[in-house]
Amino acid sequence: MAKLNHVTEHSYGDSNTENMLIRGDNHLVLDILKDKLLGKIKCIYIDPPYNNQEKYTHYHDDTNHDIWLQNISKTLLKLKQLLSEDGSLWISIDDNEVHYLKVAADKVFGRKNFITTVIWQQRTSRENRKVFSNNHEYILVYARNPKAFKLSRNLLPATPEILARYKNPDNDPRGPWQSVSANVQAGHAVSNQFYELIAPNGKIHRLPNGRCWAYNKQRMNQEIAKNNIWFGKDGNGVPRIKKFLSQATLGVTPETLWLCNEVGSNKMAKKHLLSLFPEEPVFDTPKPEQLIQRILEISTNEGDIVLDAFLGSGTTSAVAQKLNRQYIGIEVGKHIVDLAVSRMVKVIQGEPGGISKEANWTGGGGYKFYQLEADLLYSKNAISDSPLSLRECN
Ligand SMILES: C[S@@+](CC[C@H](N)C(=O)[O-])C[C@H]1O[C@@H](n2cnc3c(N)ncnc32)[C@H](O)[C@@H]1O
Repeated sequence: MAKLNHVTEHSYGDSNTENMLIRGDNHLVLDILKDKLLGKIKCIYIDPPYNNQEKYTHYHDDTNHDIWLQNISKTLLKLKQLLSEDGSLWISIDDNEVHYLKVAADKVFGRKNFITTVIWQQRTSRENRKVFSNNHEYILVYARNPKAFKLSRNLLPATPEILARYKNPDNDPRGPWQSVSANVQAGHAVSNQFYELIAPNGKIHRLPNGRCWAYNKQRMNQEIAKNNIWFGKDGNGVPRIKKFLSQATLGVTPETLWLCNEVGSNKMAKKHLLSLFPEEPVFDTPKPEQLIQRILEISTNEGDIVLDAFLGSGTTSAVAQKLNRQYIGIEVGKHIVDLAVSRMVKVIQGEPGGISKEANWTGGGGYKFYQLEADLLYSKNAISDSPLSLRECN
């Protein structure tokens, strides 16, 4: 049985840390970690090779489709058992394999455990050489138990745009408010929700087809008396219910469309890496820290364990460290040392880029580096020595 060797020379910071960076094939590493991590991981994020037939500087992404699918299914099976009851798994992928991956992941998790597909706008510039300029990728989200995940997942902080929706056009002493329609779908309505509503200045409001009032007539009159219904400045407008900022849960349900002005783009991520390593060949496919921040803020709290089995340049470990989550990162390529380890040293020293400002990150923490003993499988320097291609030969 293969084992993990602690390499002190590549470890850094707090020596009591449980954070792990591991060089090795994720299948082998996950087999070793299985007993230790069973049911403990709150969030797994993976950004596997997309099988887009590209040969990148640090790894090759050109496996045969069937083998790619078999391998990723096997990875998902190994990962699923590590999730905590309220844990979730997030998979980045693009147009090329998303539909096949969805079916394969459904088989592993069960369709009822599929939560959603997030669309991430990964670029804003137009790609004119192609028939369509493909500007987005996908993130498939699964939960071990959707009910438990729904109860534990966090709302996102209210953005300035959301706060700006609260105004106070009638100088209400209770402070700013926004309004929602006073009529709702009539599907489950009872008969006393259908009536003509007379506005304070006399206009009669009739219900549109298929709608009923949110309250029965008696309750509606009480709400009008309490100044909780807004009829526009002239007191004759279509009635709307006032919702006060002071009573709002100041968080928003995450939506499924994530634009790069909120969560960053691939280009911004590369620029960040270039600022960290001006001398190194650039890593082609990094994710922006803001994107991973959003995933971790929805799915985890401080101290929870986060796992990334395709660590690449170390974005997940960097964000987890900055947000005080515990992390485990697995990467097969030697760039785990040149990029991820070097990046983590800078993060622990207080690197100011990425999400550092927003997260008030000034440094601290640490990680231990491990090397899979079975690494005799790959030669020291080759980039194409990924076990994915080895598995393909076997
Ligand atoms: C798309 S990149 C991940 C990028 C990462 N999210 C980032 O922000 O830098 C995919 C990574 O998975 C690694 N990889 C491929 N097969 C692997 C395997 N079997 N075990 C571990 N890592 C693997 C590749 O070497 C590559 O670095």
